[in-house]
Amino acid sequence: MNDNLFKKAVEILTANDRGGYTVPTAGLYPFQWNWDSAFVALGFAAFDQNRAWREVETLFEAQWDDGFLPHIIFHVDDPGYFPGPSVWRTQKTPATSGITQPPVAASIVHALWEAGGRDNHDRLAAIYPKLLAWHRWFHRYRDPLGKGLVLATHPWETGRDNSPEWDAPSAVIDTSQVEPYERRDLVLVNHEMRPSKDDYDRYLAILQFGRDHQWDHALIAEKGPFRMIDVGMTMILLRANRDLLSIAQALGREKDCEELRKQIKLSEKGISYLWDGELGAFCSRDIISGRSSGIITSASFLNFYAGVGDALQRASLITNLDRISARVRYLLPSTDPDFKKFNSILYWRGPIWAVINQMVASGLSEQGYQSYAQRIADDTCALVKKSGFYEAYCPLTGVGTGGAEFSWTAAIWLHLSAQDRGGKSFVKGAA
Ligand code: GLC
Repeated sequence: MNDNLFKKAVEILTANDRGGYTVPTAGLYPFQWNWDSAFVALGFAAFDQNRAWREVETLFEAQWDDGFLPHIIFHVDDPGYFPGPSVWRTQKTPATSGITQPPVAASIVHALWEAGGRDNHDRLAAIYPKLLAWHRWFHRYRDPLGKGLVLATHPWETGRDNSPEWDAPSAVIDTSQVEPYERRDLVLVNHEMRPSKDDYDRYLAILQFGRDHQWDHALIAEKGPFRMIDVGMTMILLRANRDLLSIAQALGREKDCEELRKQIKLSEKGISYLWDGELGAFCSRDIISGRSSGIITSASFLNFYAGVGDALQRASLITNLDRISARVRYLLPSTDPDFKKFNSILYWRGPIWAVINQMVASGLSEQGYQSYAQRIADDTCALVKKSGFYEAYCPLTGVGTGGAEFSWTAAIWLHLSAQDRGGKSFVKGAA
């Protein structure tokens, strides 16, 4: 691993550290984001274990009483961001948004605990009930089909904001009541790399629906304008339940173990709902129309990370991966390059995201697909070396897209490089 890049990555996390929490990047995202913080903790663990735990602990300080964990925590307001706390109006302290994000935190806590040689028993025991409460919130409010899958009620919840998977279900959303607003992101980043005005109008319409219903999550899940079973969140929660089960076992929580085992079984069985037989891949599905998105994305390959998919399904996914890898210079593009709306620089419609690469590579490695695991890890490192620590990267040229000096990209680099220095590894760090 390149020592200068290690140093640079540490500098980025240090510069984006606001004291107990880290902003994804200065300017564009000036608050604490849920799954960003989890991945950032993994990066801190490479040089400061205490700070790594603190990142996740701060995140859970904003948990609501019912277990819900918000996607943004507005510790300090910043008028340079839209939509801020005065738009969300969740009436919480600290101020938060009213939607959640992919539940990767339990898996990260599990990794922190392992990286620390299974010390930090007290910290693990303190955070465990909070993780369990969040997972229970998903099981209770976000599994309308009773299949152990995850319902997303806003594209922002999926963390893959403008994925083309959301185009058809969003197209029918009424935006006529959206209040006038001014975007701030376009001042900071080239508009060709950001979601469109239509996308934003819809994001706002869905937000306003939640706000108009006082963030009643049961009602939003039942009647909200956007209701997709997200393949990404589903696979991530399934994996996180497995990791939470390991933690519960270590803490001797027998009853919880039973509950989690049942939940895992339910999801393993229910996952077939997301199989798109025509494409030979797992895709998100709209519960309003019952239709598959019909689009292969990087999240389609998270089944390996979740440990699901029968032999035929896995073979079919690998065939798709072969096809995709022949079309791009770097893996793994967020959208299938053969899909007509693929756009190599437009956010979640083509660019590569290091955090998704990390999860997919880790899953492929665990399930015995070592060469693709290594290829994806190598490509992640090659992108950083070529272009620096960007939010995302063009899969054709490797050029950085979106925000620069990005925390979770730095964190993934640190994580890979810590492995290279002898830490526990999902694939060998590629330097
Ligand atoms: C964007 C991304 C989301 C991320 C956030 C902060 O909204 O789509 O996944 O959490 O930025 O980095």
